[in-house]
Amino acid sequence: MYTTELKDKSQKQAATPLSAEDPERLAAFEARVAADDFIEPKDWMPDAYRKTLVRQISQHAHSEIVGMLPEGNWITRAPSLRRKAVLLAKVQDEGGHGLYLYAAAETLGTSRDEMVEALHSGRAKYSTIFNYPTLTWADIGAIGWLVDGAAIMNQVPLQRTSYGPYARAMVRICKEESFHQRQGYEIMTTLAKGSAEQKRMAQDALDRWWWPSLMMFGPPDDNSPNSAQSMRWRIKRESNDEIRQRFVDATVPQAEAIGLSIPDADLKWNEARDAYDFGAIDWEEFYAVVRGEGPVAKERMAARVSAREDGRWVREAALAHAEKRAVRLAAE
Ligand SMILES: [Fe+2]
Ligand SMILES: [Fe+2]
Repeated sequence: MYTTELKDKSQKQAATPLSAEDPERLAAFEARVAADDFIEPKDWMPDAYRKTLVRQISQHAHSEIVGMLPEGNWITRAPSLRRKAVLLAKVQDEGGHGLYLYAAAETLGTSRDEMVEALHSGRAKYSTIFNYPTLTWADIGAIGWLVDGAAIMNQVPLQRTSYGPYARAMVRICKEESFHQRQGYEIMTTLAKGSAEQKRMAQDALDRWWWPSLMMFGPPDDNSPNSAQSMRWRIKRESNDEIRQRFVDATVPQAEAIGLSIPDADLKWNEARDAYDFGAIDWEEFYAVVRGEGPVAKERMAARVSAREDGRWVREAALAHAEKRAVRLAAE
């Protein structure tokens, strides 16, 4: 999910300015990017490109693993064995996405420990969407349908992002995200066709997740300072507002099909634009959540930090085993 780069303090040093880079190498790099070549780990790249990628890919990885928390809360309370198995598989996929992405970021010369430390100390950001609580089972439907749905819109263009390891990770991730979106929509469909109380739960979850989902595409284009350079380097291939519009246009008919209403009085089809017009997003709320003022931001970070601590013995045991094994193999 969650690929809009936010400003954060995860990097200790500022990037070398482009004007200080070797002009010949820079020109050759830019020509390759413009020709849609993939840049690979051993290729020369400007420092600012490397730092932008480390920030974006690690924020993306953090979002995948923090994203396991709101849904993980519901595994023990899933309403049937089938729902439990599906949700378990989905949450496990998100852990796998985190793994691919940390590995892709490591090819740029940053260690996983460094990235995790930046997350746990609050220097690094992750998608603001995970700082909202999951109050009912319908929230699990809304997350799959809307949050994973928004993630797909963001991620499909990233399969052609200019950095090879990131693009290849995205190909695998996108396949799994479409399953996530469908399982969420299926939960919403079942609830919307159920009892009056179930339908009310589904509508309530849509009401609470709709606007945060639109914020997942990041600030509007005219207020998105890093976007122009990222577009030029083809890290990003479409603007925040373009992808947001595509999400609205795809999702409104899905809500109508199951008899739910989008909580936006200004939403209406615009014949001339061949797209939906929609209401203004509350960016004040977005920036407050980015600053860590989301309803459950502290709870999320505390859960991550204790998961890391609780798993320490497993990492240490695996390392000790690997060392013993290496010694044994060398002796043989
Ligand atoms: Fe994911
Ligand atoms: Fe997902």
